[in-house]
Amino acid sequence: MIILGLETSCDETSAAVLVDGEVRSNAVSSQLCHTGFGGVVPELASREHERLIVRITEAALTEANITKKEIDVIAATAGPGLIGAVMVGLSFAQATAWALEVPFVPVNHVEAHMFSPFIDEGAEEGTPEGPFVSLTVSGGHTLLALVQEDLSYRIIGRTLDDAAGEAFDKTGKMLGLPYPAGPAIDRLAREGDPSFHRFPRALTRQSQTSKSYRGNFDFSFSGLKTSVRTWLGQHDEAFIGRHRADIAASIQDAIVGVLVEKAVGAAKSHNARSVAVAGGVSANSALRRAMQEACRREGLRLFIPSTAYSTDNAAMIATLAALKISRGLRPECRYDRAPFAAFRTEETNP
Ligand code: KG4
Ligand code: ZN
Repeated sequence: MIILGLETSCDETSAAVLVDGEVRSNAVSSQLCHTGFGGVVPELASREHERLIVRITEAALTEANITKKEIDVIAATAGPGLIGAVMVGLSFAQATAWALEVPFVPVNHVEAHMFSPFIDEGAEEGTPEGPFVSLTVSGGHTLLALVQEDLSYRIIGRTLDDAAGEAFDKTGKMLGLPYPAGPAIDRLAREGDPSFHRFPRALTRQSQTSKSYRGNFDFSFSGLKTSVRTWLGQHDEAFIGRHRADIAASIQDAIVGVLVEKAVGAAKSHNARSVAVAGGVSANSALRRAMQEACRREGLRLFIPSTAYSTDNAAMIATLAALKISRGLRPECRYDRAPFAAFRTEETNP
């Protein structure tokens, strides 16, 4: 079965071709037009997707050595995401499916991240077996889910305010790093000392004195943002300049510490034997290392997709469509799906 996947929910225009579950191509174009704005400008994102979507799709088909006529199914992100951005990919995908007379599968972007450890990379470790705990950490979402063998899932924790990626991006901006600051903090932190300053870790065991701690698996990152802003305000520019790497490493350590404690804690308390980490922030080298160490210590198996599949990509969209089809979904010849902006689990829970 040949599936064409499309992804345009934020600032990556991506198309991928999956042949019998194997990724044959995954073309991704990251938009540079937002540089200087300190974040993604929704209107610019939509226009850029529109400009690139045909080219990226052609590139994916050419690389996979597949013609349009050979496509069996088209899948695209239907949400959540920037509504105008989602609309470009979704409309293009449905129009193309209609013209080619092939079925269309709408895909939930967050679920696609969640199941991205199922992307076939020919790895020896195979794929996670249920029940497993999935930590999805991106620019828009921070979710812990308990996933069963049949791939149905229940959200057991989520952020009460900022997403982990936002925590990286917003604190990095305070340090003068360009958007998205996550990768820049990751690079800068390699030269820094993570114990230079201890930033707060909300809703964790260490913060038990806080009345808000209930031993649950929710997250909160807005306090970290405030704390970084206050701390930077208390130090002069020369000092901050000398210690940028140390500050980056300390911020990263606070975010990573919370993510590891919650994911491993959730796996233990739900008797899961595996942990999967996905989404843009799972590209973070310190998070990967800390997760590996914690899972080894606790006897848990760890699954993290390679960095190419951590950040937004269409291979994960096509892979979730393929997973659903292999588990009985009959893709329909319906081309009237509407885009949605906010995360929801109904309808699409595989
Ligand atoms: O999944 P993604 O590409 O898009 C969304 O669905 O949001 O995630 C983007 C987020 C951004 O906040 C970015 O700063 C973060 O992932 N990110 C990282 C790294 N690479 C991407 N954060 C920390 N370290 C990284 N290496
Ligand atoms: Zn994403």
